[in-house]
Amino acid sequence: MADTRPRLLHLDSSAGPAAESLTRRLTTLFADIWCDRHGTDGYRHRDLATDPVAPLGPAYVALGRRLERRGAVPPEQVGALTATPDERREWALTLPLISELRAADTVLLGVPMYNFSVPAALKAWIDRVTFPGAFLDPGTGGSALSDTRVVVVMARGGAYGPGTPRAAFDFQRPYLRAWFTDHGVAEDNLHFVQAEMALASLVSHLARFRDQADASLAAARKELAELATRPPLITKVRA
Ligand SMILES: Cc1cc2nc3c(=O)[nH]c(=O)nc-3n(C[C@H](O)[C@H](O)[C@H](O)COP(=O)(O)O)c2cc1C
Repeated sequence: MADTRPRLLHLDSSAGPAAESLTRRLTTLFADIWCDRHGTDGYRHRDLATDPVAPLGPAYVALGRRLERRGAVPPEQVGALTATPDERREWALTLPLISELRAADTVLLGVPMYNFSVPAALKAWIDRVTFPGAFLDPGTGGSALSDTRVVVVMARGGAYGPGTPRAAFDFQRPYLRAWFTDHGVAEDNLHFVQAEMALASLVSHLARFRDQADASLAAARKELAELATRPPLITKVRA
């Protein structure tokens, strides 16, 4: 029977202790509201920090190059084109990640800013799922992510908004925007929610920004609560 349950894929990437992580608190807020509405059957949580995605090996690249030369095929056909045990091992590490991303109606990412960009744990996931043909929709020839909603929850120690002294140092949001839109997620379906000045409560020279940090966190919570109650964009039908 066709499976039409809404699905949420929740990815966390903070390396910090779970109890202290701002991004985890915020993604949990979203996930709890979503699960209250839709149940837990379609909920998948992947912790990229405690359960890291393996770095790419040479056989991953060799398999990808062969696919690019012959023309990309949908992911379910790639296994038959693997040529060595190493390629089969790489593909076994990759296919489940691609499948759960394609199946999700909503993708929720917890992304702290690390050194002006995203944590290496998330970058490892991005590198692995970005395989030739990974998001090809054989029915339409377009992207399998064109009706996927993506909610990126960011936390930063400082502030990087337009007009701030460090606006040009933000390689987190522009990078994720480029990656998701390049792989078929519509601008309108891509939401960035941020808690800024997270270090104001820890670092004395940032103490004057504590009100700004509190306001940013309150706005993030409100926005996430609203986003979590939105119905899926379409009902994805899965075999
Ligand atoms: C390794 C590391 C690098 C960081 N780099 C930056 C940075 O470049 N800019 C910034 O504003 N905050 C930076 N921070 C602060 C974090 O973005 C901030 O503490 C955030 O709340 C972390 O998310 P979490 O609370 O979910 O762990 C860094 C923190 C760590 C641990």
